[in-house]
Order: sequence, then C-alpha cells, then structure tokens
Amino acid sequence: MEHYFPSLPTPCYVVDERLLVKNLSILKEVAEEAGCKILLAQKAFSMFATYPLIGKYLSGTTASGLFEARLGHEEMGGETHIFSAAYLEHEFDAIVDICDHISFNSFAQWETYREKALARGRSCGIRINPEHSTQEHGIYDPCAYGSRLGVTRKHFRPDRLDGIEGLHFHTLCEQNSDALIETLAAVEEKFGEFLPSMKWVNFGGGHHITRDDYDRKALIDCIRNFRETYQVEVYLEPGEAVALQAGFLVTTVLDIVDNGLQTALLDASAACHMPDVLEMPYRPPLKESALPGEKQYTYRLAGATCLAGDVIGDYSLDAPLSIGDRLLFCDMAIYSMVKNNTFNGMCLPSLALAKENGELVLIKQFGYDDFKRRLS
Ligand SMILES: Cc1ncc(COP(=O)(O)O)c(C=O)c1O
Repeated sequence: MEHYFPSLPTPCYVVDERLLVKNLSILKEVAEEAGCKILLAQKAFSMFATYPLIGKYLSGTTASGLFEARLGHEEMGGETHIFSAAYLEHEFDAIVDICDHISFNSFAQWETYREKALARGRSCGIRINPEHSTQEHGIYDPCAYGSRLGVTRKHFRPDRLDGIEGLHFHTLCEQNSDALIETLAAVEEKFGEFLPSMKWVNFGGGHHITRDDYDRKALIDCIRNFRETYQVEVYLEPGEAVALQAGFLVTTVLDIVDNGLQTALLDASAACHMPDVLEMPYRPPLKESALPGEKQYTYRLAGATCLAGDVIGDYSLDAPLSIGDRLLFCDMAIYSMVKNNTFNGMCLPSLALAKENGELVLIKQFGYDDFKRRLS
C-alpha cells in the first residue's frame, strides 16, 4: 500500500490545483463559446485558498446566505449572487451591501426586501419552479411534489414583476445537458411569456459539465439559442463541476476488528467528514481498490465514532491492511469540507493544497478550540 502524502497529518483533505485548473479551463471555454457567465456555487466547495485561482476562470460566486456571500466577495470578488429560500431580516442590509444579484424564493420575500434591494441598484430575480423532475434523488429534487423551492406557475404574479430583472431555476443534480434541454422546454412552456422582459436567466447548478461524458456541445448550443431567442444574459452556477475529482481525503487505519467482517477503523468518518456517503448515499472511490471480493482482501472501512452506521463502504485490496496504513479517498473536494461536523468530538480534517508548481502546502489544522467554540 502506497504511503500517501507522508508529510501531511491525517485525516486531511488535499485539493490538487492542477485538477482544479483542468475543470476551470473547461468551464471557461464553455462560458466563452456559449456567451454565458459561470459562477462557483460555494455550497459545494468553499476552500477559499483556491478562490484567487478560480477567479481567473469564472465570473464570480453564488451564495446561499450572507456568510457564503461574504466569503465570495472577500476572497474571490467578481460578481456576487445570492439565493436563499428565505432571507433573515437582520442580515439583509449586509446582503444588499455586497450582493449584486439577489434572487427571491417567493413574491412575499420580494415584496419584503424590494425597496432595499432596488434602492441599492441591485439586480433582482425570482426563483421559479418549472415542476419538471428529471432525476430520482428525492432529497435533491426541487421539483418534487410540494417542494418549497421556487415559485410555481400557479403562484407566479405577473402583476408584481416591476423591478424584477431575472428568473432563476435550479432543478438538476449531477446531470448531463439532455436534462437541461428538457427542463428549458418546461421553463419555456410555463414561463416563456415572461422571458423577453428579463435581463438574465440563471440556469442554477447540477450541470456535470466537467465530467468526461458530458455533452458540452449540446449545452453550448442550447445556451446560445436561448440567449438569441430571448435576448437575455445566461448564468450557470455549478458547484460540483468546478471541483469534481479535484480533491482527496487521506486517512490512517487506526485498528482492524473482525466480527464476521474485517473492519478497518479509520481516523476519517462518514458521519463527520463525508456525510453525503450516508445522505445520498454513495460509495466514494478509493485508490488502489476494487469492489468487495474482486481483489484478495476485502474490508469494511468505517469511522471511529459511536454511530453503528458510520460506514464508508466495503472495498477489496491487493494486500492486507495494517494499522498505520494510509488510504486515499478520491473525489473528496465537493460537498465534503463544507459539510463537516465534530460529532463525537471528532477533529475536523486538515486542509492541504497540491499547488500547480508541485509544492504541497498544509494550509490549516484544526483542534480542540474549533470543537469548543461551537458549543457553550
Ligand atoms: C440554487 C442552487 N444553485 C447551485 C447549486 C449547485 O449545484 P451542484 O453543486 O450540484 O452543481 C445548488 C445545489 O444544491 C443549488 O441549490
């Protein structure tokens, strides 16, 4: 077993700038060819040490609330967009100070904040819900029946559009351009009459643009066509596509127990450090491994928390594991560090950057103070 990143403490996320740049170059090219703007959705990836690099390729950031908006504004600059399902009254002045584009989830929210936003010359939008599901992940489907996300056509208020310059929709999750094309047809069918009076339309995230099998030509064609038809500016705000396959989580084997299954206990936890493994659920790729039984030694890899279900998955390896071995989980940049928690008092993984010039930099380590500060 290779001794991954021996100079780093574990657990540690390692983001690789070269892999990031590979994605960013693709996104920049798409934006240029399609004539659209692409923003980083920070909910997926907020490692701000990489923001100066990302800012060279993308037009700015989008946020789900004030804190992400501040981070994008302070660390990347460019355009700062925000969409929140409901804004907090005590935060709105600060939001208006830094966000140039503000999308609202209901006409009631729009009425509440309209005056403040327009007084600052902010460009305001309404999130619409085209009620067209193209995916089966129920918890990631904003078009599911009863969804609170976006105004449906039934509740859309053409009489309250004065001051609205944009429409925003987000309906996709890890999808190809065919799902976008289908969704655009639903948007046009339900909301087409309002499109010509808009300045911009935000197509949300969930576009897996940097995945090898993504049909980028179809995306570019459909954006061009949409822009020409309605004379609007088009925004995309992917999160995953920006840092897809660009990061790792390196972890150490702490113990191996055999209660019918060989289980390796790691200093990385599904519950604390890769919650999507349990939530989505999915099986993160592990370097030098195969499906259970395919290679000679099969292990269940699990966290050291009290949660019986803190299981990352079952993997097979060519060689038996020993205590102290290091394992490397792949595709760990997105929806990982942004979702971390300290359940059981687990330490947050350190953050490291493999720089474009080959240098490996340990950026941050966490400790007891980070755990304690969140409690009282
Ligand atoms: C409004 C909005 N925009 C963008 C995104 C980013 O999506 P993804 O990371 O799947 O590209 C999300 C994800 O939930 C979202 O809710």
